[in-house]
Amino acid sequence: MREVEHPGGSHPATLILGIGELTTNAPEAVGVDPVDDPTGVVRDAALLLDGGRVAWAGPERACAAGVEEVLGRAPDRVVGVEGRAVLPGFVDSHSHLVFAGDRSGEFEARMAGRPYAAGGIRTTVAATRAASDDDLRANLRRHVDQARAQGTTTLETKSGYGLSVADEERAVRLAREVTEEVTFLGAHVVPPEHAEDPDGYVDLVVGDMLAACAPHARWVDVFCETGAFTPEQSRRVLEAGAAAGLGVRVHANQLGPGEGVRLAVDLGAAAVDHCTYLSDDDVAALAGSWAGGDAQGTVATLLPGVEFSTRQPYPDARRLLDAGVVLALASDCNPGSSYTSSMPLMVALAVRETGMTVAEAVSAATAGGARALRRPDVGHLAPGARADVVVLDAPSRTHLAYRPGVPLVHAVWKDGHPAR
Ligand code: NIG
Ligand code: FE
Repeated sequence: MREVEHPGGSHPATLILGIGELTTNAPEAVGVDPVDDPTGVVRDAALLLDGGRVAWAGPERACAAGVEEVLGRAPDRVVGVEGRAVLPGFVDSHSHLVFAGDRSGEFEARMAGRPYAAGGIRTTVAATRAASDDDLRANLRRHVDQARAQGTTTLETKSGYGLSVADEERAVRLAREVTEEVTFLGAHVVPPEHAEDPDGYVDLVVGDMLAACAPHARWVDVFCETGAFTPEQSRRVLEAGAAAGLGVRVHANQLGPGEGVRLAVDLGAAAVDHCTYLSDDDVAALAGSWAGGDAQGTVATLLPGVEFSTRQPYPDARRLLDAGVVLALASDCNPGSSYTSSMPLMVALAVRETGMTVAEAVSAATAGGARALRRPDVGHLAPGARADVVVLDAPSRTHLAYRPGVPLVHAVWKDGHPAR
């Protein structure tokens, strides 16, 4: 990457030149027919970042006029990326990063044949409760930095390993130090001290715990699954969260079929995550949530890191896409079912294992995540979008799936600032 610096302010206007393949996810903004290419690819492209936003995107041959029109002066910095691929920063709409300890022993046992079960969460709850704020904060920041190094520029993260009023409040408060996309997941599993009275635990979640956590959170979530919470309990938690002003998201249909997906659609959830075991009715409900051009349907978020790490069957993305469901891809980074924050790995797994094309997987990991978080400002690179940009050390985004495990993220801009 070559850089030319001119004097600039605290938010320098940056012109990126020499982009071999620019994925904008904004076809209309760059004169591409969305039917031909919904990901709005421009070849031999340029991108202007100014004031933390995308100011101009298009073919490099048109950029002198474009820059003059929107900036009226020379950019402060010009960066040449020498034919590399550029795309919107990844939007990881599902992670669990406030925790202590690891469960490598459980993983090892699983690889020797023991199945994954929701109960392992309690191991992390014990370690998390015992950790100091500073230890949790250091662990969280390390994971956020690792995600950023792999191109994630928007990250949702959840509580759910505290499961007491004080420990859940601490988790959402610490999470809020690193992201605006904080989810209250007090209903992750029933903690041991409430094992004999799960409904009493739900009372606590919808009462004092929600009251303590809602001020730090944007979302409420529940693990609606055998071994965690029933559909009735899940509905109580989600309705209480919504009444407290939180948006709704749901963990469902991860370990087997169930009512969670339909519950999520019924409650107008922004996203329902996992979606590994789906009936035809589930697929129809998800597709129906987007019928009539509704921009606020329920996104199905696939988390293929879970299937990779648990040896479960992968979800069928093709079936969902063909039915008209909007998909996101997320890491679900957590110490039990998917201990990776790598969105490039999610793209590779989605392409290899779930039936997505490369274009669909990259779109799901960027624009799809943005829709799952109802964030119109991220996941695309049209003028006005947040200047969150990833440069790959590769000529095309295809390399994300074609070269799995290779560190392909060459540079990252977050809010128009170099972030890596
Ligand atoms: O999304 N499914 C529920 N929660 C996490 C797993 C958490 C754990 O095993 O610690 C998930 O997969
Ligand atoms: Fe999860």
